[in-house]
Amino acid sequence: MTDQSNIANAWSTLIGLLEKSPQLTLSELFAADSDRVAKMSQRIEADLGQLGQIGMLLDWSKTHLDDAALGAFEDLADVAGFDAARSALFDGGIVNPTEGRPATHGAMRGSGTEAHVEEAEALLARMGMLVEAIHEGALGPIKHLIHIGIGGSALGPALAIDALTRDLKLVDVHVVSNIDGLALEQAFAACDPETTLIAVASKTFTTTETMTNAASALKWLADNDVADPSGRVVALTANPEGAVEFGVDETRILPFPESVGGRYSLWSSIGFPVALAVGMDDFQAMLAGAQAIDTHFRETQGRANAPLLAAFGDLYYSRIRNCQTRAVFAYDERMALLPDYLQQLEMESNGKRVSVSGEPIDLPTAPVTWGGVGTDAQHAVFQLLHQGTHLIPVDFIATVAPGDELDPAHHRNLLLNCLAQGAALMAGKQSDDPARNYPGDRPSAMFLLDDIDAATFGAMIAFHEHRTFAAAVLMGINPFDQFGVELGKAMAKSIDSGEGEFDASTAALMTAAGLRT
Ligand code: F6P
Repeated sequence: MTDQSNIANAWSTLIGLLEKSPQLTLSELFAADSDRVAKMSQRIEADLGQLGQIGMLLDWSKTHLDDAALGAFEDLADVAGFDAARSALFDGGIVNPTEGRPATHGAMRGSGTEAHVEEAEALLARMGMLVEAIHEGALGPIKHLIHIGIGGSALGPALAIDALTRDLKLVDVHVVSNIDGLALEQAFAACDPETTLIAVASKTFTTTETMTNAASALKWLADNDVADPSGRVVALTANPEGAVEFGVDETRILPFPESVGGRYSLWSSIGFPVALAVGMDDFQAMLAGAQAIDTHFRETQGRANAPLLAAFGDLYYSRIRNCQTRAVFAYDERMALLPDYLQQLEMESNGKRVSVSGEPIDLPTAPVTWGGVGTDAQHAVFQLLHQGTHLIPVDFIATVAPGDELDPAHHRNLLLNCLAQGAALMAGKQSDDPARNYPGDRPSAMFLLDDIDAATFGAMIAFHEHRTFAAAVLMGINPFDQFGVELGKAMAKSIDSGEGEFDASTAALMTAAGLRT
């Protein structure tokens, strides 16, 4: 494992170097290099045979990264042991040392050790058989699925289903995560208990929100005279014993390995609702698209490695330009849930304050990820992006092929607005009137996808997983644990049990909320 002090020293060197080199504006960077667009953009494409193809143009030219910065980041990657860390990720090394585990989400889509990939293929085949049996009516005429899970057990499926089932869904899926009963009631209102299946998705099968919602869903089936409510439950979990204890028959338990982290689990049986909604062929295409990015990430060195280059940009803005947030705007309704998904992926992975080996980290770690959908966001938050005092690097995501079948004016306007925002953020506009002056020089990156199909969607998600991993390696962080979420859970338990001492504010609020007398 790379010594954190080496990484800290490499960061001091990098920061010193970049402070000394001239800080050119974006316009100056373009003026200085007529080849900038070609150098800083890249088309990633792969022919996946029967499973389709992926094609996307990534453009990092409107960021402040220049040759000097890229060279410095490549040197830093060497010191941080990026190549070895990347090999360890795919070779089943213990990349999550605080929990003593490898991270084998790559194996779920064919990128990993032979043993991990074989295990994944067997689990996928098992899921495929259940999905096909359900489509063929083995559990009765299933029209709806209520997918119950939270965090990584919900965000990926919700995004994938929203992105991929606009035209056609084989089963109507409702993802319910919140313990607020209103969320489950909303799903009940949209489903017929006679034709509804319940998926309980929980890596641990102990999460309070999920288990409470699961129990209420079973009660709803029973209250509505469904003969065998437990017979309508499918469990997606790394704790099959917990699912058996909950009353799920083994034939409807779809396990996945402990070494697949919650926020990296879309590719495992946590993707069951996606497979049920889009069919196994498209689910396989999603895996293949992700695998194509794994291959790119594994085989490409330095700045030509797109997720690594994205991580260089992320760290340049968070650590050199002190940007505390980064924003993601999807100019495509199908990707509207991407910012929510990325929030968990990036903030739960890299929102840490100590290194892999436990030493405090002095520089900023993950910025706050936020965002929305274009063009809506233009009429809400873009004022701050253009004229506010924060510098916020922006990612734009757009698609060349329209998702809709209306007048082409819709899609044309969507795309041209997206491009206009990137151009305006960079160019700005001088005015003698301070209120009408735009400073410009504000960075953005662009993901221009050929289309949003299952394969391209899988590629986009895998890209962001690797971008997050690469940033973690360059900061010396373990991206695969999340102990920060445990304290609040423990406190909630002590409030519930009535035990434990609380500060005066919380104690008063407990009384006001009726949680204690
Ligand atoms: O509380 C955080 C967390 O553990 C996430 O990391 C995870 O995705 C989510 O809760 C759900 O956990 P589980 O799948 O075990 O129910």
